[in-house]
Order: sequence, then C-alpha cells, then structure tokens
Amino acid sequence: MGKKVSKIGVLTSGGDSPGMNAAIRAVVRTGLYYGLEMYGIMRGYQGMIEDDICKMESRSVANIIQRGGTILKTARCKEFFEYEGRKKAYDNLILRGIDGLVIIGGDGSFRGAVKFSEEFDIPCIGLAGTIDKDISGTDFTIGFDTAVNTAVEAIDKVRDTMDAHDRIFIIEVMGRDAGYIALHSGIATGAENILIPERKTNMDDVIASLLEKERRKKLVNLIVVAEGDDFGGANKVQSVLKEKLPNAEIRVCILGHIQRGGAPSSLDRLTASRMGYHAIECLLQGRYNVFVGIMNNKMHYMPLGDAVKNKGKISDEWLRIVKILAS
Ligand code: F6P
Repeated sequence: MGKKVSKIGVLTSGGDSPGMNAAIRAVVRTGLYYGLEMYGIMRGYQGMIEDDICKMESRSVANIIQRGGTILKTARCKEFFEYEGRKKAYDNLILRGIDGLVIIGGDGSFRGAVKFSEEFDIPCIGLAGTIDKDISGTDFTIGFDTAVNTAVEAIDKVRDTMDAHDRIFIIEVMGRDAGYIALHSGIATGAENILIPERKTNMDDVIASLLEKERRKKLVNLIVVAEGDDFGGANKVQSVLKEKLPNAEIRVCILGHIQRGGAPSSLDRLTASRMGYHAIECLLQGRYNVFVGIMNNKMHYMPLGDAVKNKGKISDEWLRIVKILAS
C-alpha cells in the first residue's frame, strides 16, 4: 500500500482514439466522487512540462462521452524522453500538489510513464487508448472498435462500386506496427486477401490466388492492407499486381485518418468508462504503476512496464478463416 493520493492529473498522449473523452469523463467523475481533486493536463506530457494544467469539475466533462478526439488534446512529446523534460514536469506537478497520474495512450506513452514513476515518486496508471490494439494485457483498447467499424463502413461502400465494375480493390487501413484493424475489418467485409505487418507478405501467393480467381471469372477481389505491411502499402501492391495481371482493373483506396475520428462506438464508450473508473480505484487502493485492461470481460491489471507492443501475437486461425471464407 503506497501513500494516499489526493490530487490526480489525467492526460491523453500519442495518437488520439475515439473514446478518449469517455475515459477522461470516467476518470474525472470517479475521482470527484471519492473526494479527490482532479486536473486535466493539456497535450499529454507536453502540458506537464509547460504547466498547461487545469482543474476539472464534473461540468468540465459534460457532453463529451459521445465525442471523438480528446478535449485535453494530445501530442507525442520528445522532451519527455529526456531526464530534464521529466524533471520539469515533476516540478510542475509538485508545485500544484498533484500526486497521481492517469495516462491514456499507447505503449510509447507508457514507457515514458514507467520511467517517470521510477525516477519520481508519482504513481501512474495506464489506460490503452489506441485504435491499433497493439498492446498486450487487454482484449480491447479504447478506439479500436470504432476504427474497425469506420473501416468496415467505408469498405462496404467501396465494395458497391468495385462490384459494379468487376474490379480489384486494394484498401489500405491504419496500423503502422499492427494488423488488427486490417484483419478485423477485412474479415468483416469478406476480403479475399489481408496483408499485415505480423506476417511476411508473399506476393506470389496473392498473385496465384488472383489468377486462379480470374480463371473462374471471379473478377471482384478485395485486398485489405495494413499501412505497416512489409510489402510497402497499397500503392506498392498495386504496381506489382498491375504488372502481373494486365487485364485486371485495379484501384487503390487509402482510408487514412478518418479511422481515428468520429463518435465512439458503444463498446468503446463502455470500455473507456470501465477502465476510467478502475484507474481511480487502483490509485485509491494503492495499486500503483499498473496498466488497466479488460480480459475475458473482467478487469485485468499488470505492471505498466509489461504493456508493450503486442506484435506477432495474431493467431494463425484468423488467417485460415480469411483463406477459407474467401473462396
Ligand atoms: O495511433 C496509431 C496510428 O493511428 C497508426 O495506426 C498510424 O500509423 C499512426 O497513428 C499515424 O500517426 P500520425 O497521426 O501521427 O500520422
């Protein structure tokens, strides 16, 4: 059991994700419920370094549960990688009496928090706010479900025009290091091929499958590519396919940042609310420097330092499903 906390700062860091606002609301309202003073830190660690911090009341988080983005804004802060930056941030927290932090972000943000909590005596709690779902220790990350739904809606629309023209479409979704958005949205839209960073892309296999389908007069084919796929993304895939399938009509659609915006799905709002509530419970119970996840629909805690990238964990079964269903 650590020292008692009384003033808590909450921040969002790294790429934003739909549901971050719902998490901020849950953290702030739970903290206030227990009589804690709550502070919002603007632009992630940058705001901690620059003392861009504001007191938050219940009304500060009114009418935000349904909004994408983050009212606290976010940033990727290089200064926080350096000791001097972290020291500045610490001094600002001490001046205000802030003695606990809730960090909503990805694994880079957690790495910063781990360093910070080791160097200075400020307990940190991490909540996974990322559309990529590339963090171990949780079945869901805040924003993933919304991003997949956004991708599915967009891909369904592309499929209409793809089908009308008998075309091959290569759709690039987000995921610099992780293929979860590609895999989930690809299966949900009936993609014939899904290319992800976790598996080496064998373009010969892709070409062979398309040629085989061409022989069967199946001309409509959907390929979903994660932006971080080792082959180099949708444009690169298109240029190779054009060469090998000269008769095929091939188009590219890159979905980009629309996947990061929009109103969070009900699942993301619920996930964020549960995680936010439990972040405060952890601080009150002296469960410090942990990552709060959800596994098998139960809260799951682990040391913040273990919440690293979940790269390479995609099960072969998922890819088998893609292959069998795409015939
Ligand atoms: O937050 C994750 C992510 O959306 C990745 O999927 C993507 O590669 C990256 O962020 C894009 O970051 P930025 O908005 O800084 O270009």
